[in-house]
Amino acid sequence: MTPGASTLPNAAALEKPYRLALCKPEEAEAVAAAVEGAAPQEALSASELGTAAGLKTPKRLREWIAARLAAKRLLGWRLQQAGLYLKPSDITLGNREDGMPFARLPGGRVIGDGTLSLSHSAGWGAAAVCEPWALVGVDLETIAPRAASFLELMAHESEWAPWMLADPVEQTRLWTLKEAVAKLLGTGLSVGFWDIRLVLSGEDRRLELHGAAEARWAALGRPIIHFDSRAEDDARILSVAYAARPQEAPL
Ligand SMILES: CC(C)(COP(=O)(O)OP(=O)(O)OC[C@H]1O[C@@H](n2cnc3c(N)ncnc32)[C@H](O)[C@@H]1OP(=O)(O)O)[C@@H](O)C(=O)NCCC(=O)NCCS
Repeated sequence: MTPGASTLPNAAALEKPYRLALCKPEEAEAVAAAVEGAAPQEALSASELGTAAGLKTPKRLREWIAARLAAKRLLGWRLQQAGLYLKPSDITLGNREDGMPFARLPGGRVIGDGTLSLSHSAGWGAAAVCEPWALVGVDLETIAPRAASFLELMAHESEWAPWMLADPVEQTRLWTLKEAVAKLLGTGLSVGFWDIRLVLSGEDRRLELHGAAEARWAALGRPIIHFDSRAEDDARILSVAYAARPQEAPL
């Protein structure tokens, strides 16, 4: 099953319906230090402070905050376009039972159900917010060589070429693309590594879904999934998967 293709041939078919934001570790550090010291801060809502108190490690707290700062920046901008001026602490980011993030606004309005996606890596936070008619998934990973044993587990033979063994950028790119698609689908951990395949096709890749990933894609109405990757400061790869929701999708 081939639900999408690499961005190059499809770029013209769908104008990118998402915006991205990154948050640096030092920005999250200031908020984390205030939270740990029970000092006033203007980034998190009371409900988020309750969740923050349950996070197990300082690293998790900082990355969790970094992703939320990135998301609130995007949401704040988008709401301003609609004439709604909110402080970051007026917006509460939560997670559905399956882990998918959502934002709750004062008055109870919820933004989510596939239009908001978060990621964190090495202290950095990333967020993507898309138009209501679209779906988005984002993944940020630090560029690093992966062990051959992990690569064998992660990459199906159709995704693999011997030159990738010496190419940490492509290894990281492949991993982030899989995770971005898993987040768009909302499946997270429930799919196997080979259920989401970015099959090598010349210098390009095309998306194939199998098993649990294909079943979820079918339930979403078989949207055409596009994807993009970019290197940030030669240190991180940021990948995004995005799609227009089919009219008849049971969302
Ligand atoms: C979602 C997932 C795929 C990514 O986790 P990760 O790469 O470890 O961590 P990231 O920082 O990039 O992303 C975590 C964010 O994903 C989001 N997320 C979690 N479950 C999600 C789901 N079912 N759908 C969409 N987004 C989800 C959350 O917002 C979470 O951040 P938060 O807890 O601060 O809100 C997770 O299921 C996971 O742990 N995967 C491990 C590897 C795996 O099996 N990948 C499958 C690829 S084929």
